[in-house]
Amino acid sequence: MLADKDRIFTNLYGYQPWGLDAAMKRGDWDNTKDLIGLGVDKIIDTIKASGLRGRGGAGFPTGMKWSFMPKAPTPERPSFLVINADESEPGSCKDREIIRHDPHKLIEGALIAGFAMRARAAYIYIRGEYIREAEVLFAAVAEAYDKGLIGKNAAGSGYDFDVFVHRGAGAYICGEETAMLESLEGKKGQPRLKPPFPAGAGLYGCPTTVNNVESIAVVPTILRRGAEWFSSFGRENNKGTKLFQISGHVNRPCVVEEAMSIPFRELIDTHCGGIRGGWDNLLAVIPGGSSVPLVPAAEIMDAPMDFDGLKALGSGLGTAAVIVMDRSTDIVRAISRISYFYRHESCGQCTPCREGTGWMWRMMERLREGKAEVAEIDMLQQVTKQVEGHTICALGDAAAWPIQGLIRHFRPELERRIHERNGGVPTFAEAAE
Ligand SMILES: Cc1cc2nc3c(=O)[nH]c(=O)nc-3n(C[C@H](O)[C@H](O)[C@H](O)COP(=O)(O)O)c2cc1C
Ligand code: SF4
Repeated sequence: MLADKDRIFTNLYGYQPWGLDAAMKRGDWDNTKDLIGLGVDKIIDTIKASGLRGRGGAGFPTGMKWSFMPKAPTPERPSFLVINADESEPGSCKDREIIRHDPHKLIEGALIAGFAMRARAAYIYIRGEYIREAEVLFAAVAEAYDKGLIGKNAAGSGYDFDVFVHRGAGAYICGEETAMLESLEGKKGQPRLKPPFPAGAGLYGCPTTVNNVESIAVVPTILRRGAEWFSSFGRENNKGTKLFQISGHVNRPCVVEEAMSIPFRELIDTHCGGIRGGWDNLLAVIPGGSSVPLVPAAEIMDAPMDFDGLKALGSGLGTAAVIVMDRSTDIVRAISRISYFYRHESCGQCTPCREGTGWMWRMMERLREGKAEVAEIDMLQQVTKQVEGHTICALGDAAAWPIQGLIRHFRPELERRIHERNGGVPTFAEAAE
């Protein structure tokens, strides 16, 4: 178990106030000027050496991402940092804990990361439903301005840096980085075709880096404690501490900071009081938020909870939103409900996603009731393959993967429903074979 002394988020549960005084007692804004004084190259090198990979889902190395930003931005074409606080992936609920209980970690991180990429300002895009969280964030940013920690000569560093908070209106797609940029510009939140990538042409056509809240909020602590400290947690290529969000059929659902690569069983036993009804009652787990394929009980028990460990199981760490399902779950209904979500959230720009998400959901509903031919399971699988990788953004993949996981691991259950509905009589297509 991660020792308390190694926790970055020491006010994750809000036992202490979120405000500046309390945050400073916890160590935030302590000699920020000196951290900035390390200089751009040293900061980026430290973040690279720490092994930090993006916490927003894709796991892209954070230091490397920053290094793509221009070395000499001009006043006419400044660089921007955009912080992704949209957090709309079902199961994900970590960024809200940072924002409502530890917002100064994020604001200090924004200044340091912004400086490292030579950005003029940071925009924090927070999902519309986070009303109380946005209130805290607005107030924390105002406190930081008040004390001269951001704004002109931020924290006495000689660097001018603004932080703007922008509220979204509750669309999942605005969490996709280029849709977020469109939305920030006041347009409909629809993803852009890439290239150009945001580092070349992002917000208002200027160089931009989009990072998740957690990726940015851990930066000051990494710089204070050193890259070696951060990379002492987790396996090679999967370094650091991580906020896990465990929901569903565990005895005590929670958000907890743990060492990356902790085995699934240890994570659940240590922090969630085990599986509801005991370990034999576990059916399956969606380990990284609704868009990653499920993993059946037997395969996940001893798996390391990290990028590579879950990839090896045909799934992913995503945002580390761990959705646990016991044997009482109607697994087909659960995945069908996820399909409905993606159908609802598709922005409609590309045909495979716009049509495919609706098609897949309707098919899933028929399979849920067993009102289908067995051959249609293969047809559904083929449709998921035609959506996956054929769309402008990854929402198409996110809609396809949960269904692929269901078919891969629970095909007998899908067939059972079809046969049961037919009273054990072979379906028309089976009889014709
Ligand atoms: C449909 C969709 C929704 C997304 N939603 C979020 C989100 O809510 N929060 C987030 O940080 N990243 C989200 N992402 C990932 C972002 O596009 C981007 O990769 C991420 O913010 C980069 O930050 P990181 O490098 O710090 O992980 C989403 C991606 C897609 C395709
Ligand atoms: S994949 Fe879906 S959500 Fe993404 S751009 Fe295409 S239609 Fe929009």
